[in-house]
Amino acid sequence: MSIISLSGVKKTYPLGKTEVRAVKGVDFEIAKGDFVSIAGPSGSGKSTILNLIGCIDTPSEGRVEIDGVHTADMKDREITLLRHRTLGFIFQSFNLIPVLNVFENIEFPLLIGNKPSPKAERKAWVDFLIEEVGLSAWTRHRANELSGGQRQRVAIARALATKPKIVLADEPTANLDSETGEAIIELMKKMNRDLGTTFIFSTHDQKIVDIADHVIRLKDGLVSENYKPEGGGK
Ligand SMILES: Nc1ncnc2c1ncn2[C@@H]1O[C@H](COP(=O)(O)OP(=O)(O)O)[C@@H](O)[C@H]1O
Ligand SMILES: [Mg+2]
Repeated sequence: MSIISLSGVKKTYPLGKTEVRAVKGVDFEIAKGDFVSIAGPSGSGKSTILNLIGCIDTPSEGRVEIDGVHTADMKDREITLLRHRTLGFIFQSFNLIPVLNVFENIEFPLLIGNKPSPKAERKAWVDFLIEEVGLSAWTRHRANELSGGQRQRVAIARALATKPKIVLADEPTANLDSETGEAIIELMKKMNRDLGTTFIFSTHDQKIVDIADHVIRLKDGLVSENYKPEGGGK
């Protein structure tokens, strides 16, 4: 049973008097619990695809189904709930709140939206996530005191705070050196195994593509390859 399904998806952006065909007709399915890489060079359509799956944007044509629901049939309120409850986001620029400490950044999504869980329960869960991402010694440090790799670890824990079914990460290693980037992908994979969360990350770095257990390669707005690496994945 797939948790994400795209069929006949096209996305065209207006550009002055012409248009840019960013995604030209894409079909793929993603299985629940998989660790998926959307690979391809700059401009191939990776961010556009992730934005469509994240309901940040809507397709010009075709269907995007998330967790069994056709997103075009959803009301604004349902889209908001889907984004808060079903999806988690990791960004290439980390997007932490600089003056909040590690604990507060991770707890933040639990305090907005619907009523927060009891404080003790919340603390136990946030402390568990901090331990999982290896930052127990940094709990009370502010985000702006951390290295890039540490910031991305916080961002991973924050994305998982609401226990989403799917985490979307658009080039999460783009602002990290290659060694730190690899460690971040390995950490996402550990969280994928430990929590069963479906992860989808985009990258143009071939070295980390095959850490995934499902690779969808884009070229000029089309899928050029769609495979499960031998010996890759779990
Ligand atoms: N908002 C936009 N308006 C116009 N063109 C866009 C917009 N977003 C992306 N594009 C174009 O669509 C194509 C795919 O972009 P993108 O999805 O960002 O690729 P990638 O993330 O793989 O680098 C590129 O040609 C890009 O210039
Ligand atoms: Mg991009």
